[in-house]
Amino acid sequence: MPQKGFVMKKQRSSFTGQIGFVLAAAGSAVGLGNIWRFPYLAAQCGGGIFLLVYIILAVTFGFALMLAEVAIGRKTRLSSIGAYGKLDRRFSPLGLVGSAVPAIIVPYYCVIGGWVTKYFFEFARGRCHEIAADADGYFDGFITASARFLDNPMPWFLIFLLLTAICVLAGVDKGIEKVSTFLMPVLVVLSIVVAFFSVTRPGALEGVKYYLLPDFSHFSAMTVLAAMGQLFYSMSIAMGIMITYGSYMKKEDDLERSIGQIELFDTAIAFLAGLMIIPAVFAFSGGDESALGKGPGLMFVTLPRVFADMELGGLIGTLFFLLVLFAALTSAISLLETVVSIVDDKAHWGRQRSTIAVTVFVFALGSLSCYGYGSGIIGAIKPFGMAFLDFFDFLSNSVIMPIVAFFTCILIGWVTGTNIVSDEVELSGPFRRKHLFELMIKWIAPICLVAVLVSSVLENLGYLRYGR
Ligand code: PFF
Repeated sequence: MPQKGFVMKKQRSSFTGQIGFVLAAAGSAVGLGNIWRFPYLAAQCGGGIFLLVYIILAVTFGFALMLAEVAIGRKTRLSSIGAYGKLDRRFSPLGLVGSAVPAIIVPYYCVIGGWVTKYFFEFARGRCHEIAADADGYFDGFITASARFLDNPMPWFLIFLLLTAICVLAGVDKGIEKVSTFLMPVLVVLSIVVAFFSVTRPGALEGVKYYLLPDFSHFSAMTVLAAMGQLFYSMSIAMGIMITYGSYMKKEDDLERSIGQIELFDTAIAFLAGLMIIPAVFAFSGGDESALGKGPGLMFVTLPRVFADMELGGLIGTLFFLLVLFAALTSAISLLETVVSIVDDKAHWGRQRSTIAVTVFVFALGSLSCYGYGSGIIGAIKPFGMAFLDFFDFLSNSVIMPIVAFFTCILIGWVTGTNIVSDEVELSGPFRRKHLFELMIKWIAPICLVAVLVSSVLENLGYLRYGR
């Protein structure tokens, strides 16, 4: 039975043409992955070299995989759970494994969504300068939950989660999606303004160089692993979601061009986020490069300092966090909706009960990530040496998604044959990058994926270290 997710509540082919498809898929793709995750990974994994590897992967690997997923969906008219099995019965578990990814991501996604909500709230009540004065201390105090009730992350996680759940329950996701597509260009313009301000700060030039000029001495297998995990995450691929989106795409819409547009938009926003944050790290740390290793907190520590330095920074910061909140909300809705649909399809509980059950699950799992940096019992448990949030992030992006991507390549490249995708693409026009696609799906992507998986295991066992 097909999933009835975010884009799925109406009849199939609900997208009103190509633009409808591109906007809906971009709404899912553009989110915290671009604005929060990309800059901190780029900062951590060598700057320019990470950016270069990411872009190369996006136009080769990301393109091939997203195209394959959307084409599978459009061909089978099924969501991932049914689609893989329809192409080849032996591959039906792949749909299920892929579906586990949103269930792992959404709890910690809502925790970060909560952090954004908190920063929006604080900026809105004029605390920009106060936060910026001790940005590190403020953030650390917040996530380690050592402060008063409203100053610890739990209530904010709950607010964001409930907001997402209410949107899913009330079925207002379409409305949110519309508002968000209208707000997204505003986010782009604002990001350009902030990025321009960041790169013109004294001392920021070193950061611009670090971000834009690849330094090959920072390259390692881990750079590729991190970039690849980020690619999957950011473009919502290797988890079956794009199959569902594809199942609602019209046969006459230009598939290849749409994929190109989504990729371009997604990568442009990530690139801008990096340009806002990384040069500012250099400018405000007085060139201290260790500030680059801040990890998940980078955006929250760096941006308040940028805003505090700006004319009207309090207002711009408030608007910025509000826009990020919207981008995060549309992505979180699409994640939660996917999980709800699967539960509903399998357990036949109905939408309302399924949404409540999934929300309780997300709350339980998300609490681990929420308190994982603290000094309490949860903070003391470190699976594989990582805080819970980093662990779930690693599990989905660096373990499960590469596995799903690998088997998708094997299925299309070697079992069904690449024609299944090429024929689908050619229904709506010439397939311009057909040879690249075939080479990627059959050879380069699977080999890369095995290399990446092996190195991720080695890294985890302590035999390899991240880029820098
Ligand atoms: N791609 C989203 C982001 O970059 O924030 C995250 C995401 C949203 C992944 C929706 C998967 C998904 F279904």
